[in-house]
Amino acid sequence: MKRDPVAFLREEINELKKNNLDWTIRYLEDSSKPHSIVDQKEVLMLNTNNYLGLATHPKVVQATIDAIKKYGAGAGAVPVIAGSFDLTKEFQEKFAKFKEVEASLLCQTGFAVNTGLIPQLVGKQDIVVSDELNHGSIIDGVRLSRAKRIIYKHTNVSDLENQLKEAEKEGARRILIITDGVFSMDGDMAPLPEIVKISEEFGAMVFVDDCHGEGVLGEGRGIVAHYNLQGKVHVEGGSMSKGFGVFGGTVAGSKDLIEFCLNKSRTYLLSTAHPPSVVAACIAVIKVVESEPEHVQRLWDHTNYFKKEVQSMGYNTGNSQTPIIPLIVGDPGKAQELARILFEEENIFTTPIVYPMVARELSRIRVQMNALLTRDDLNIALSAIEKVGRKLSII
Ligand SMILES: Cc1ncc(COP(=O)(O)O)c(C=O)c1O
Repeated sequence: MKRDPVAFLREEINELKKNNLDWTIRYLEDSSKPHSIVDQKEVLMLNTNNYLGLATHPKVVQATIDAIKKYGAGAGAVPVIAGSFDLTKEFQEKFAKFKEVEASLLCQTGFAVNTGLIPQLVGKQDIVVSDELNHGSIIDGVRLSRAKRIIYKHTNVSDLENQLKEAEKEGARRILIITDGVFSMDGDMAPLPEIVKISEEFGAMVFVDDCHGEGVLGEGRGIVAHYNLQGKVHVEGGSMSKGFGVFGGTVAGSKDLIEFCLNKSRTYLLSTAHPPSVVAACIAVIKVVESEPEHVQRLWDHTNYFKKEVQSMGYNTGNSQTPIIPLIVGDPGKAQELARILFEEENIFTTPIVYPMVARELSRIRVQMNALLTRDDLNIALSAIEKVGRKLSII
């Protein structure tokens, strides 16, 4: 019998569905902000990464419109082939100052930073020591590098030290310690001061992927500024797409690092640059974060209030230290049911997070705070989360 070369597509999808591990996409007919329209109904969104609500900030929107009128829609090419834009130069200089580093580079996405840069920083003769819960883009970047990967227990500094001793014995050319700054599924933070201290003992490079820390920690500057470690972390990877509400990936660090990245990162070299209007929005957003500290302040006020309330209801929020607040329920089916009922009956949009994003037994819904929420919004969300949690015997 002739075989069907694509039969596996349906078989694998069916397997995911059978185990409650499949994804379906909901569609927004409004901006990604707390009061939005999703699948044709008005909802309270508690799952956007647009933490500061800046995706719709009037100054950011205006800068985008102005730039699109001047520069049109697309960038036309990769920067090294047909040039970058004056706006990109302005952004990179501004962003470097904001992050208190020598230089920065605007890349396609946070994901592309990791898959493009990590394989250039390390190769076959090297060792990467990586937190066990690092983001998938780090895992993919490390795989592409073909360096030996050693995993240390999540945020566990003494295990990191043990693994570094092992790495040292192997006589690697370079050692790279790599960690998320804020872990996107749990909302906890890397113990960066300790990591930096240990890295100095072992002569290891430190790479922090701060996609969820930027806009949130250190008055918006991220985890390195939060811990006053400017100049001590060799590579800061970031994203303009989350707390900053726009789009793009960033690398921040020394001038040498940026020139190296520009010349060697394959995702930077081989993929089209941002539309100039997006870059204009990125510039505007940094200006807003610098001049309007109230957005970050409100985000944290909401975070502290909401977390205290859900914890007192009996929800397990893990080790969350940031506006990412997981409500860990265990069973994947229950996590999906909690999100479904909240959406369908309570008009609250949250995300079920299941395997492979987290271990099966740690399935959850992930709630994210937002500066545009009001205390009334939070109270409405809290009473719905309590009601449905009791109905499903989660709390
Ligand atoms: C830690 C981390 N790194 C990288 C990324 C990817 O960033 P971007 O959306 O800019 O590609 C994410 C996004 O989820 C993330 O959480």
